[in-house]
Amino acid sequence: MSDQKKVVAINGSPHAGLGNTSQMIAMLRPHLEKEGFKLEELFLSQYKINYCIGCGVCIEKGACWIADDYKTVSKRLLEAEAIILASPVYFLSVTGQMKTFLDRSLTYGHKPRGTWKPGLAVSVSSGAGETSVAEYLKYVLRIFGAFPVGALTSIAVGPGEFVGKEAVADRAADLARDLIRAYKKGRRYPATDLDLRFWRFMSYLISEHRELMKSDHDHWQRLGLYDHFEAYVGQAAAPPSMEPGVREAWIEELIQEQKEGTFVPSGPEPKMKADAAAVPGVTTALELLQSMPQSFNPKAAEGFKAVYQFEVSGDEEFTAHIRIADQEASFHEGSTENPDVVIKTTAKVWLDIARGEISGRWAFMTRKYIVKGDLTLLMKLRSLFGG
Ligand SMILES: Cc1cc2nc3c(=O)[nH]c(=O)nc-3n(C[C@H](O)[C@H](O)[C@H](O)COP(=O)(O)O)c2cc1C
Repeated sequence: MSDQKKVVAINGSPHAGLGNTSQMIAMLRPHLEKEGFKLEELFLSQYKINYCIGCGVCIEKGACWIADDYKTVSKRLLEAEAIILASPVYFLSVTGQMKTFLDRSLTYGHKPRGTWKPGLAVSVSSGAGETSVAEYLKYVLRIFGAFPVGALTSIAVGPGEFVGKEAVADRAADLARDLIRAYKKGRRYPATDLDLRFWRFMSYLISEHRELMKSDHDHWQRLGLYDHFEAYVGQAAAPPSMEPGVREAWIEELIQEQKEGTFVPSGPEPKMKADAAAVPGVTTALELLQSMPQSFNPKAAEGFKAVYQFEVSGDEEFTAHIRIADQEASFHEGSTENPDVVIKTTAKVWLDIARGEISGRWAFMTRKYIVKGDLTLLMKLRSLFGG
């Protein structure tokens, strides 16, 4: 088998190889080949792919049981380095062939794979619907766990009669090059509000129906997606509270991390500044928490009341809490009955964050520590304690 890198295009047009969709895919081909990639175009109309019958077996057992060509096509997508979803507009939507293929891919919509392959959407119409179809295909790419680099759209008034053909070809050249650049650099785009909303909803749906959606539930548990969702999509959701202080602190932190180049939501641990200051006189996590009231900033706590509980494991094992009320902070050993937020961490992680060796945000997003309760309180920690 050749080990040449592949871009696989799934074409939903019934005009296999001849239609406008194929002609647009052909505009991409020379630019992909110039980069050393092979383009394989699969015509859904040449495969036997039956309708989804809505039996739900894929969400219970993890795979579709219908024996036809679906598996062959979806396997090719999984093997490709980059993927293209292409469909002409049929009644303001994708063709039936494409829709049937996507319906049969339901399991992808429940089990984020996170392959993060770069992808393109391609669509052509005779005047109405090509941009919305391309948007839809881009959204599908995201749900497949890929990410769309862009969309090639056009209007054709007859076979091969593209409006502004040269511009379409130029756009194809740019997109093909960018697709390969994205692959070579391992580029990822941050999650969109659609991603965040979609997967949050899916998380709720699957955990509520875990008996029925056994296979989905196992997948989410195995990958730790229920707790670890932000790291999966590569971006934290904004704190739910619109309380201005909390939101500002969160945004400031993001900007700071961008400036320092430490904003790496997933992947390898970022290197922080080598000269990061150690916390003076503190060598253990217990000492660190005991010393927190000394760096307390009462101004940031005007009208604010909260109890932070820390459950520390690893080199040290203890539970302690910090109570903030009346613009004062106090340290207490042991647990408390109703903490507003619980931070479960190893001693090392908490010390590393305090010493500036790792970013608190990165540590949170890569699940180095876990927070239960009001997440917005976590964001406020920095301004409360010497931030
Ligand atoms: C059943 C059918 C429905 C169509 N619906 C639309 C439509 O809603 N909007 C539009 O602009 N073009 C529509 N078209 C035109 C096709 O999108 C257009 O001819 C396209 O170039 C076909 O691409 P292909 O040659 O790759 O199959 C439709 C064509 C067919 C056959």
